Amino acid sequence: MALPKINPTHTEAWTKLQEHYKSIKDVHMTHWFSENENRAKEMTIKWEDFYLDYSKNRMDARTMELLLELAEETQLKSAIEKQFLGDVINETEGREVLHIALRSPKSANIKVEGEDIMPEIHEVKTKIKDFTADIVEGNRKGYTNKAFTDVVNIGIGGSDLGPAMVVDVLQYYKNHLTTHFVSNVDGDHVNEVLKKLHPETTLFVIVSKTFTTQETLSNANTIKEWFLKSASKDDVAKHFVAVSTNIENVKSFGIDENNIFPMWNWVGGRFSLWSAVGISISLATGYDNFDKLLSGAHAMDEHFKSESFDKNLPVVLALIGIWYTNFFESESEAVIGYSQYLNQFATYLQQANMESNGKSVDRNGNKVAYQTGNVVWGEPGSNSQHAFFQLIHQGTKLIPADFIGFAKSLHGNKDHQDKLMSNFIAQTEALLNGKSKEEVISEFKSQNTSEETIQQLTPFKVFEGNKPTNTLLIDKLTPESLGKLIALYEHKIFVQGVIWNVFSYDQFGVELGKQLATKILKEFDASAQIADHDSSTLNLLEYYKSFS
Ligand code: F6P
Repeated sequence: MALPKINPTHTEAWTKLQEHYKSIKDVHMTHWFSENENRAKEMTIKWEDFYLDYSKNRMDARTMELLLELAEETQLKSAIEKQFLGDVINETEGREVLHIALRSPKSANIKVEGEDIMPEIHEVKTKIKDFTADIVEGNRKGYTNKAFTDVVNIGIGGSDLGPAMVVDVLQYYKNHLTTHFVSNVDGDHVNEVLKKLHPETTLFVIVSKTFTTQETLSNANTIKEWFLKSASKDDVAKHFVAVSTNIENVKSFGIDENNIFPMWNWVGGRFSLWSAVGISISLATGYDNFDKLLSGAHAMDEHFKSESFDKNLPVVLALIGIWYTNFFESESEAVIGYSQYLNQFATYLQQANMESNGKSVDRNGNKVAYQTGNVVWGEPGSNSQHAFFQLIHQGTKLIPADFIGFAKSLHGNKDHQDKLMSNFIAQTEALLNGKSKEEVISEFKSQNTSEETIQQLTPFKVFEGNKPTNTLLIDKLTPESLGKLIALYEHKIFVQGVIWNVFSYDQFGVELGKQLATKILKEFDASAQIADHDSSTLNLLEYYKSFS
């Protein structure tokens, strides 16, 4: 059964939230903190190794009550059940959305068109496990009988961002294999990677759900040509494997049937790292760590499915996001990982979030009259403090931010960890409280600053504060906790899509540009007839052609 098609703005909760917004929009959060000494406690959720403090938000208990009513009126509970039951909730593509099945135990009962999909999932997992062991232990060798030293993931979008992010985040858990990612159709990307490789000891994993993606096929062909300069056609079977739903296209590329890792249409590209798409994660960190990543995600799935909404991490984060997007009209949200390991996390989230909820037509096919998908961005702290934090602290835009940190560092350097975490905690405190005019003046006075300088500089040194943040403190970065973290954001995206009444699992918006690029590529040919274009496009096309 399909998802409900409820316009959120027609709910009673929405109207109440609009009224409520008017009454609290100018309240400074510090007021609520001084009024209620239990605020932080009441607005903290502790679940397993996750500690979420959402008290530094411009909301009170009534706000959350109304947001929960909104979730109820938009039938979130039944939407979650539908997803987990394998209903065709990706209606526009006629598909189930079952990445949750990929991390479920064998005993789970998940069916697609009446057929149990768990045996097939676990068959592929066993194949990944055996293949990983063969490569990592050096049992499977290259064409000159040398063990593999390098793995190259060739893919783009969901066939790149998820695995690339996880391999980078879990670098502490990595084995001896060096992992590379080639995604961009920019030939300089693939050539820079090839510079570092030896054909005899490199394994290539072509990842493409459709096996029709221009970037991936161009890179795969370029790499195959490079490989064939040193090796023979028969050697391709030893060095190239593929992950795809399109078995025919993979075979015609020349890949041995035994080297194909299947995936399924019910796995969306941007939610596919849990499938064989994550094979580079397994190769880089070992199958056990890949499996732990999956178990972590499964634990979050269980939490999401069964926890009451007021204590449900993805639901609470999603509702807070809706509060800012639709009532405060904030346009973006920052995700700041206080860990260098989370360097690529925001980049990964951009696709997951913006390809899913960047929609302006609702599930009834009508244009929406309210805001949907937010712009997500971010960089790790403390680096970002020295880059864009100025704007968050003193700029004109309201930018809610998620701060994610780990209580223990992996290398155990206490001195660095304490400095990092003092920044982590201090920033959200500064964003909350700001610095009043009185505080600025008294600080100046304590430094014996002249009256004239005090007058001149005070306005610039005042921080309004009242900038919202969520703080997510996790015990330690492990494959399990990373699995939980990714699944947390996946479910947050799902919840927001349900409430915004959009289809989160298609991505038709990326098609038009692809079609036009195909047309323009043909027009680069000197003899080609140039189609009708606007004058700007025409000039650019001709100017580019003048270089050839
Ligand atoms: O950009 C559109 C898109 O379809 C993404 O959703 C997907 O992750 C990516 O292209 C790659 O697609 P494929 O895995 O089929 O090559």
